[in-house]
Amino acid sequence: MDDDVVLSAPLFAGIEPEAAQALLGSMRLVRLSRGQAAFHEGDPGDRLYVIGSGKVKLGRRSNDGRENLLAVLGPGEMFGELSLFDPGPRTATASAVSETALYELGHDELIAWLERYPPVAKHLLEALARRLRRTNEALADLVFSDVPGRVAKALLDLARRFGERTDDGVKVAHDLTQEELAQLVGASRETVNKALADFTARRWVRREGRALVLLDLERLERRAR
Ligand code: CMP
Repeated sequence: MDDDVVLSAPLFAGIEPEAAQALLGSMRLVRLSRGQAAFHEGDPGDRLYVIGSGKVKLGRRSNDGRENLLAVLGPGEMFGELSLFDPGPRTATASAVSETALYELGHDELIAWLERYPPVAKHLLEALARRLRRTNEALADLVFSDVPGRVAKALLDLARRFGERTDDGVKVAHDLTQEELAQLVGASRETVNKALADFTARRWVRREGRALVLLDLERLERRAR
């Protein structure tokens, strides 16, 4: 696990390295295998998490059992802060999509940290604002964009988080099943598969199990607009 990635999280922004390392050292390390949950929607929440390695999906379930993914987060990203800043039940279930290591910080430690380093609050606000911006965009896409456009956007977003440059493109080891990818896009598995098959036929992407290689970023970006 790469400490530098964790220390790039907003929680540590602008803090001298010794103090940041000390806080990180005091956080509990939680390891999850694929499918294991850090917490469930509706649980009382009193701690936040920073991802050290792996991937976490944040999902909500409807009354009739359907699931929707709000986001898939990776190393250096934070979750679980909403029920700390606005005390109430967890707004989503957080579960590991691959082998994952998390750093956990309790409410009282967080408050003490913010009192000691007030500028950190600004960085946390920025992170929340970015998330709201992204959520607004996803909401508009659900209303205004078609499924292939949303699939293209989701692939580019996953590539920014988890992509690795290869000879012929960007490899995205997203670790999501087809069902999970569909839940992230907010469409049926069949429609998302059809879009992926079309992108594959056009040679914009190549499938490799639970990974995809994005071969033509420019066309995908145009399709995502
Ligand atoms: P909390 O409500 O404590 O638990 C679920 C977490 O999911 C929540 O805090 C946020 O950290 C995260 N979360 C909720 N909604 C979104 C969203 N739209 N995008 C990204 N993360 C989210």
